[in-house]
Amino acid sequence: MSEPLPQDFAPALNATAARRGHLGCDVHYFTETSSTNDIATTYAERGAAEGTVVVAGAQTSGRGRLGRVWHSPPGAGLYMSIVFRDVTAAPFLTLAGGVAVADGVRAATGLPLEIKWPNDVVAAGTAGPSSRRKIAGILAEGSSSAEGLQHVVLGIGINIGPAAYPIEFAARASSIETELGRTVDAGPIFADVLAMLAELLRPLSRGDATALLARWRALSPWTSGATVECETPGGRIRGVSSGIADDGALLVRTGGKIERIIAGEVLWK
Ligand code: BTN
Repeated sequence: MSEPLPQDFAPALNATAARRGHLGCDVHYFTETSSTNDIATTYAERGAAEGTVVVAGAQTSGRGRLGRVWHSPPGAGLYMSIVFRDVTAAPFLTLAGGVAVADGVRAATGLPLEIKWPNDVVAAGTAGPSSRRKIAGILAEGSSSAEGLQHVVLGIGINIGPAAYPIEFAARASSIETELGRTVDAGPIFADVLAMLAELLRPLSRGDATALLARWRALSPWTSGATVECETPGGRIRGVSSGIADDGALLVRTGGKIERIIAGEVLWK
């Protein structure tokens, strides 16, 4: 059983209603849950409509990319998952999530953010690409059947306030409040991220990713000209980042040729 939304959510959702379209018309809030991706997947399997949102104040089994734990303590973050069914937009949902978080957080709080390939949302550092601090992450999980794609659940975790991150993340993680030096409300961040996502989805549902890719590239300055080390199936390569292909692959110039990196870990030097 979901619970009433926190007080600051309703006015923020009302203020963005015209821009959000169907995103967030049906919102299910939990003070604490296992993983919002799991709850949204269950709802999707029971027929929940495109745009249904599950949001929580804490997760006991939050998960991230590459099988990692997503640290989700109470009072420190916003954990949300959105159900999508539009097959045309599906390949671009992860990229759209990153752009929507970067632009939505900036609209709600004034904090400028960047995107670090593949799709971490980060606060820019002053000492080059390795000094960026992670503020948010995106995890898209799809379900297909013999008839094709059934649904995609787009999970978004945003660090709102300071938390005792595990030691292996502490140096690379930050929060909106830590960066701004003041407290912020989660409701306007939630509503603005959904509104930005809805605006990005309109051309995507017609198969037009031009605006999304342009904005993604503008938010990812280090995807050109940075020294990177990447794990690939053929071994570790070192090179210089040389842009993003239209399918989201990172291009890396190494030894006179261009490698396409489609997944995995990249170290930015
Ligand atoms: C990453 O590794 O960067 C992706 C992190 C995604 C975390 C979010 S929090 C809401 C949703 N529920 C989960 O269990 N994971 C995603």
